[in-house]
Amino acid sequence: MTGIKIDGKIIAESVKNRIKLAVDELKKQGVSPCLATVLVGDNPASATYVKNKHKACEEVGITTKDHKLPSSITQNELNGVIDSLNSDSAVHGILVQLPLPNQIDEFQTITRISPIKDVDGLTPHNAGLLAMKKAVLVACTPSGVMEMFDYHNIDLAGKDVVLINRSNLVGKPLYHLLLEKNATVITCHSKTKDLKKHCQNADVIITAVGDRTKFELTSDMIKQGAIVIDVAITRHNDKLAGDADYDKIIEKASFATPVPGGVGPMTVAMLLKNTVTAASLSKGLGS
Ligand code: GUN
Repeated sequence: MTGIKIDGKIIAESVKNRIKLAVDELKKQGVSPCLATVLVGDNPASATYVKNKHKACEEVGITTKDHKLPSSITQNELNGVIDSLNSDSAVHGILVQLPLPNQIDEFQTITRISPIKDVDGLTPHNAGLLAMKKAVLVACTPSGVMEMFDYHNIDLAGKDVVLINRSNLVGKPLYHLLLEKNATVITCHSKTKDLKKHCQNADVIITAVGDRTKFELTSDMIKQGAIVIDVAITRHNDKLAGDADYDKIIEKASFATPVPGGVGPMTVAMLLKNTVTAASLSKGLGS
């Protein structure tokens, strides 16, 4: 039995089609959604991600502002850029691409973003709302994963889900979103004892390690019919790959995401969705 590929490109397209309609509607009401991105330094992967985000915005009619800042920038200077975007009424969403250079404090930077413009859902305000089941702007990769489950009508109630990531960007928001769907969630990390055993017991595995020298999800680690969501993106044998050995996993799983073409496009689609939500909030239109 071969499992079903969860195709992020197709699902992201369907999300984008909905967003395009919402953007047109907002424009009729006099609101032209705008996303400002802030890229610090010259990390090539980050530059590519930001470029893709701009391209996707263009596709759905969202305008963008591009702030490329030198890696030598000080915290005060970066704070100043964020403050000016916070007070610019033409800007509805602010995205500071991570990671940031060492001299910059990530927490201070994220916290500086106005919560109603926080299209990454990473400010303490929005992370707290999510934990209290009152989320408005949710981190893009986690909400993209949830959209994939929805698209395939996968009911998570009572499922044993193993998360292999505990970051603010992925693991923690996913934990709350999965709990809301009545899943039983186990969050694993580098100090977890017997990760393989946890994986073998799981109905759903969501993995986001991103370093094949440290971790690889192989087919002997999953049970027959498991669902595997691979959030990681890394280079392996000179090719882009995730944590999972997709070709073998798909022979045993009921559903699995490929890399590339899985979760990645969903992250971008959900950013567009959050930008539309933020633009609606700015005019008190709701989402
Ligand atoms: N770096 C990797 N993923 C993300 C993301 O979703 N948002 C931001 N701001 N930076 C990232």
